[in-house]
Amino acid sequence: MCRNCTYACPWHLFTINENDIFPKIGNQELCVSCGHCLAVCPTNAIIHKDFSNNNSHAINKELIPDFNSVNELFKARRSIRNFLSKQVDKKLIKKAINGAQFSPSTNNLQTTKYIVVQDKEIIDSIRKYTTDYIYRTLKYFKNPILRKTYQLFTKNDPENIKNMLRDYEGIVNNIDDGNDLVLHNPPALLFFYADKKIGFSDVNAALALQNATLALFSIGLGSFYAGYVVAAAKSNKRILKILKLSKDYEIYGCLAIGYPRLKYDRWIERKKPDIKWY
Ligand SMILES: Cc1cc2nc3c(=O)[nH]c(=O)nc-3n(C[C@H](O)[C@H](O)[C@H](O)COP(=O)(O)O)c2cc1C
Repeated sequence: MCRNCTYACPWHLFTINENDIFPKIGNQELCVSCGHCLAVCPTNAIIHKDFSNNNSHAINKELIPDFNSVNELFKARRSIRNFLSKQVDKKLIKKAINGAQFSPSTNNLQTTKYIVVQDKEIIDSIRKYTTDYIYRTLKYFKNPILRKTYQLFTKNDPENIKNMLRDYEGIVNNIDDGNDLVLHNPPALLFFYADKKIGFSDVNAALALQNATLALFSIGLGSFYAGYVVAAAKSNKRILKILKLSKDYEIYGCLAIGYPRLKYDRWIERKKPDIKWY
């Protein structure tokens, strides 16, 4: 008997005694339905109430990229901010969302939910509400007393606030010149949101988003993290409203998506990683 399930289960719910033919399961209420027991069983012997044979599949190991392929993917993926004005095939966005579903999540809760917006009017409204937020924030931070209060209250580095002001001013000046530095005219937006009462929902969403980003890249789509929209959605309830989300939910990520207009042929060095080894 291999005992793989006894080792793989995060809660060690399986036990196998000397003369047992099958493993025994205890404390089933702790099971998070991660499926490790099924995935690791060489004889497909585990029967689990949440899974049937239909949702357990053999991994095609030949398709798993080696380190060099994964590493090249990491370096080649860039934030894309120039899109063709062509609608994105829903099937491709669905593929990226399916990829996002395989990211880790706290206790396998899979908290992240998704909204895809391809309606131009809704995208335009989101851009407007986000720029409203940027104008308001800029006005607020231009007041030295409010700026100082915010900085003390949030223990923010004054340098950060200075940089934020610089960025927001850049955006506002560009809006005035007719440029969209908030969304860069994408044909689609993909929102990652979750019930805000569940712990680590934000982290789960960020991990899901990164899977989606890499999946989008691998199918020829470009994307960038629309951070201003995420920031605006925290204080501008109109963004939640237009997405038909109640106040129980929070938006934790937003990708602007489209077919890339530019081709990147080179990868650029990053900072050397700051690592401590103990
Ligand atoms: C939390 C977060 C917020 C971001 N917000 C924006 C944004 O609002 N607009 C934008 O153009 N890029 C945004 N980015 C993308 C970064 O600018 C980009 O990842 C960084 O410059 C590195 O470039 P690369 O993604 O091409 O490797 C954001 C990225 C993160 C992680």
